[in-house]
Amino acid sequence: METPAKIEGTAAPGRNNRAFEFLRDIPKQLLIAGKWAPAQAGGTFHTINPATEEVLTTVAEGDARDVDAAVKAAREAFENGPWSHITPHQRAKYLLKIAELVQKHADELAHVITLDNGKPISEARNEVARTAEVFIYYAGWTTKICGETNPSDPSLFNYTLREPLGVCGQIIPWNGPLSMVAWKVAPALACGNTVVLKPAEQTPLPALAFGKLTLEAGLPAGVVNIITGFGPTAGAAIARHRDIDKVAFTGSTSVGREILQAAASNLKRVSLELGGKSPNIIFDDANLELAVAGSAMGIFRNQGQVCCAGSRIFIQQKIYDEFAERLTQVASGITLGDPLQPGTTMGPLVSDEQYERVLGYLNVGQQEGACVRAGGERGPQSRGYFVAPTVFADVKSDMRIAREEIFGPVASLIPFRDETDAVLQANDTIYGLAAAVWTRNVNRALALARRLRAGTVWINCYGILDPISPFGGYKQSGFGRELGKDSIELYTQPKSVFIKFQK
Ligand code: NAI
Ligand code: MG
Repeated sequence: METPAKIEGTAAPGRNNRAFEFLRDIPKQLLIAGKWAPAQAGGTFHTINPATEEVLTTVAEGDARDVDAAVKAAREAFENGPWSHITPHQRAKYLLKIAELVQKHADELAHVITLDNGKPISEARNEVARTAEVFIYYAGWTTKICGETNPSDPSLFNYTLREPLGVCGQIIPWNGPLSMVAWKVAPALACGNTVVLKPAEQTPLPALAFGKLTLEAGLPAGVVNIITGFGPTAGAAIARHRDIDKVAFTGSTSVGREILQAAASNLKRVSLELGGKSPNIIFDDANLELAVAGSAMGIFRNQGQVCCAGSRIFIQQKIYDEFAERLTQVASGITLGDPLQPGTTMGPLVSDEQYERVLGYLNVGQQEGACVRAGGERGPQSRGYFVAPTVFADVKSDMRIAREEIFGPVASLIPFRDETDAVLQANDTIYGLAAAVWTRNVNRALALARRLRAGTVWINCYGILDPISPFGGYKQSGFGRELGKDSIELYTQPKSVFIKFQK
């Protein structure tokens, strides 16, 4: 059941009422076989605006039965539907059309992201732009997915085909509720697969808005199916389903482990993009101004709810105090508040659960003896899941705040002596998603790029993600790479064909 009154009640003069109409018109149901439908069991759940703690609206709560119906639709579309025999050129056109519709509705989509997730509207706009870019990038790939010819016996001809996997289950988190759709769906479709997508229960709306756009784009029925619902029910049903060929997951390391086990049911392909505790290393020869600005962005963007957030900031001893002082100033200058206001630079955390979790770590850090230089407490707002941007100094590598993923706006500043010490401390983690190095010494930069055990290394920058380049984890940050050419490999498999010449 929808509660449009709530949504309309949020609309106000000076706010973008067109966006509220767009939000009101998003179907709050499951998308299966090109049609919107309620959950078979009739369940619904609320999605909350984290800035106000008000119910935004109510969406269908899908479970295993709905996942099953979606898988059947996806299977039918893959085996028999128009999708099974269209040309790569036609697939490209669908992806480009989706990108065009995302761009056309950029403003409304950004509002939906901000209302559902809480990130500042400027960051939501950026997320929408990046989403379109990913679709455009993979539209280009559709016509470039090639096999090989291999030298063999002169009486034989061998070639390979790169074929889609089939039905792909995709389970995404709430921190990039639209960009995560793009990272998963765009390459899967480019390769000719069909999809059953489950958005996070905290942020179902951007994915549902996306579903509406796929219908507007004329995508054949069953190619993209969307099941809103909870992890242990709808999500787990995807992970264990025997007619899903691949599962792609982004989220916590503990759930990643469960998905891997469930996927063993039919040995489905698995790719996992999990947590991180990424080191951001500042040498004393770095351009300090740029390093401070980049490091602040690296830990405070999206309220720090970023898998590759630079949460462990290692600073060479000589500049430790100055860096700490400057980062503290930047943190104190952040505008925490209504994420729909254009001047806001930090919004609320996504949910009550995340809020409690991060506040818990603020206590842990103080109990462990770290020194609060900025923040360290909830925001001054009377409602909403606001946490002040926090800088902990005097952090030691063995403290929990330096080892566990907090997923909030919390920077831990740790001193180091030299290159060897920096690498040793940086790599001392179960994670390996990303790392950054700030230095003017090119030899050192290149040496560290090799020695840091992480899927992405940024030199004199932080957090750059671009569809041209693969992203994913070392160690317990997961496996499989998304974006770039690697994602094409993730969503296809080679088939070898031998032809014997007849005399
Ligand atoms: P989560 O891993 O529980 O949720 C991510 C997605 O997985 C959601 O769609 C959820 O419904 C689904 N899910 C949950 N349990 C499942 C199960 N048993 N089977 C299949 N799907 C399941 O993450 P959560 O609880 O939202 O956040 C907890 C922590 O995880 C965060 O504090 C953060 O440390 C980490 N996290 C990491 C993310 C990343 O980008 N790598 C994104 C979100 C969370
Ligand atoms: Mg969870």
